[in-house]
Amino acid sequence: MLIFMILTSVSLAIADKNDIFVSKGRSWIADENFTEIIKSSFASSRCCNVFLTDWTEDSSAVFDQFKNVYPYDYLLETSMHECRGYFFLGSSDDDIIESIKKTPLLQWDMEILIVVNKNISSDSCLFNNSAYGIANINIVSISGMWKLSENYVRPRVFTKIDSYEGMQIKDVTINFQNKELQVCSISSPPMTYLNHTIQKTIDGIEADVYTMDDELDWDGVEMKLFLIIAEKLNFTWTIRKPEGNYTYGQRINDTYWMGGLIQMMREQKIDMAFASIWLTLDQYKFVSLSESWYQIYIHFLVPRPHRTTSFWALSRPFSEEIWYLLLSALLLHCLYTYVRAWIDPKFPRQYRNFLIVLTDLIGYLLSSSVPKTARKRTNKLQILLWQTAGWLIITAYSSSLAARLASSEYESRIDTLEQFSKANLQWGLGKELPPFDDYFDMTNPLSMKLRGRFHYIKNYTQLEQLIRRGNYAILGKVMDDSFVPMDYLANDDLKNYRLMRQPVGQFYATFAVQPWLLKPVDEIILRLRETGIIIGHLRDVIRRRDSYNLREVTVEHDRYDGSIQVLGLMPLGAGFILLFVGSLIASLTFYLELRHAAEATSVQNLLRNISKKHGLDQSRTTHDFG
Ligand SMILES: *[C@@H]1O[C@H](CO)[C@@H](O)[C@H](O)[C@H]1NC(C)=O
Ligand SMILES: *[C@@H]1O[C@H](CO)[C@@H](O)[C@H](O)[C@H]1NC(C)=O
Ligand SMILES: *[C@@H]1O[C@H](CO)[C@@H](O)[C@H](O)[C@H]1NC(C)=O
Ligand SMILES: *[C@@H]1O[C@H](CO)[C@@H](O)[C@H](O)[C@H]1NC(C)=O
Ligand SMILES: *[C@@H]1O[C@H](CO)[C@@H](O)[C@H](O)[C@H]1NC(C)=O
Ligand SMILES: *[C@@H]1O[C@H](CO)[C@@H](O)[C@H](O)[C@H]1NC(C)=O
Ligand SMILES: *[C@@H]1O[C@H](CO)[C@@H](O)[C@H](O)[C@H]1NC(C)=O
Ligand SMILES: *[C@@H]1O[C@H](CO)[C@@H](O)[C@H](O)[C@H]1NC(C)=O
Repeated sequence: MLIFMILTSVSLAIADKNDIFVSKGRSWIADENFTEIIKSSFASSRCCNVFLTDWTEDSSAVFDQFKNVYPYDYLLETSMHECRGYFFLGSSDDDIIESIKKTPLLQWDMEILIVVNKNISSDSCLFNNSAYGIANINIVSISGMWKLSENYVRPRVFTKIDSYEGMQIKDVTINFQNKELQVCSISSPPMTYLNHTIQKTIDGIEADVYTMDDELDWDGVEMKLFLIIAEKLNFTWTIRKPEGNYTYGQRINDTYWMGGLIQMMREQKIDMAFASIWLTLDQYKFVSLSESWYQIYIHFLVPRPHRTTSFWALSRPFSEEIWYLLLSALLLHCLYTYVRAWIDPKFPRQYRNFLIVLTDLIGYLLSSSVPKTARKRTNKLQILLWQTAGWLIITAYSSSLAARLASSEYESRIDTLEQFSKANLQWGLGKELPPFDDYFDMTNPLSMKLRGRFHYIKNYTQLEQLIRRGNYAILGKVMDDSFVPMDYLANDDLKNYRLMRQPVGQFYATFAVQPWLLKPVDEIILRLRETGIIIGHLRDVIRRRDSYNLREVTVEHDRYDGSIQVLGLMPLGAGFILLFVGSLIASLTFYLELRHAAEATSVQNLLRNISKKHGLDQSRTTHDFG
């Protein structure tokens, strides 16, 4: 007796040290089979929420087995959202289904294993799949095991399987078996060219559905890609228009998105959406976006530079620095000559007058006057060098001037944001107000200014008016070297536009899909990308659809075109004005000199005297006033 009691208490003490839920019975599932069940059911989750509905011997035994086999951490009777694995264990199907209904938000990536310790019949409430949402479900019972069909084919059904390996989520090519998917899109050339909608009732709600009876409706880059995806995944589709007034909708706060196809995605009204959807963080937080199929740059079309004729054309052969240098060389030389004339007694006396020095030196520089007196004097070498420099400068000036005047002059091009900003251009869009951070690189302070120049375009008439006014830039995207405007534009509107070289932004184009479609769609897009099929379709659509003027926007027209210009008055204007002002000053000086000489008598008398004298001294050379 004593030995027996001691043995009993020792064994109890050992049991106490162990887990409190140790059971005496054996589980009805073989250990190796249970390992297989766990492996197949929790293929991707790395922790588990465990819910036991009762503590019968069977349940405890299976739970013990779970503790031994499950390789990761688990939580008991509490649900942690980050844990995507769920294990429900019990002996009553009603209790289990109650427990499942309490679990919040059954998501597509949840892996749920239900083990029932009894035989369940085919009319059990466990097979009512309305409780499971879009989660993955495996049910194991004594009478058999079932798997809920993949979450992308509706309606989902339970199928009986005969090996535990069949529980695994299959990684084979998805086949929708001609099921109809709901898709959302809009007309957005060159992505899609959808046009007509009709009213149709889908799930009891009126919806605008695009008719696909025109060949044109099947055109577009993204439409072609979508058709390939549909064919590969074997589904049929209905393309709907976004509900309400928004195309994509707007982010209100971190948890709420208002309107547009993003909201429809979130409400699971649609399975897929496309039409220039951008891979942005804002949208990515709300819906699943596929791999991008292309990188698109945002550019402006800006007005072409106009031809100009400048009044100051004559000054253009030399840069400002050269003009300043010439002027300072002249003044320095004048100063030197002037000072030397005062110091050096052998130096010509006439140079003691600064004005005479100045005019003479200009004369030498332009090689237009070489008085004999200069040659004999001590400044011979100085004048020779001065004249040589003058000859070089004038040759350079004349040849450059000739080349410039013969070709046309244009305003400078607008190619950077800085020039865009200086030109004071406006821009606009006819769609909902753009999220500026998506369109432009907001780290660039010049991009910030673009916000202030935005115009909301109400209708095409207004757009035409803005284009006619001239200081309007057209926003568009560049795909494979072709420009596509964001708004509809007639061919003629683009005649005076060229592409601004610097892109103002860029984005990646994607498809928005429900999470369970992400993997297969990604795979197809990556394949299409690596085989070049995407580029092929892109070029094909753009080649067929681009208008003549859209191809022209990358061609510059402000270059020398080979024709010779006839010189007008304007480019020579500065020269004529110089002549006019010079003559005016000379005449005025002459008149004042006469007045001075005449003193008491009138100017006319003086002139008469001069002409008399002139008659007497015909042999003498006349003095040149000029
Ligand atoms: C399935 O469950 C839902 C609600 O839980 C219930 O409305 C529906 O009648 C059930 N269907 C069947 C076939 O029992
Ligand atoms: C459960 O089903 C098995 C066969 O599937 C059968 O042998 C067993 O007797 C059943 N047990 C009960 C309690 O119905
Ligand atoms: C359970 O495991 C045994 C031994 O590995 C195996 O023969 C049997 O087929 C398994 N049962 C099921 C239903 O897979
Ligand atoms: C697409 O699904 C239908 C219906 O299940 C089937 O008949 C057809 O063979 C499938 N096509 C492909 C290519 O798998
Ligand atoms: C839509 O179709 C109408 C009539 O077929 C046509 O006149 C119109 O240009 C089309 N719109 C677009 C954007 O293609
Ligand atoms: C769409 O805009 C119209 C007019 O601005 C407005 O009456 C209507 O309520 C808007 N619809 C929605 C769903 O916001
Ligand atoms: C987000 O906006 C919605 C609707 O305006 C509001 O109901 C919700 O409380 C907001 N959430 C947060 C976190 O601000
Ligand atoms: C277009 O908009 C302008 C100004 O916003 C307005 O004056 C004009 O009536 C509109 N035209 C049409 C056809 O709606």
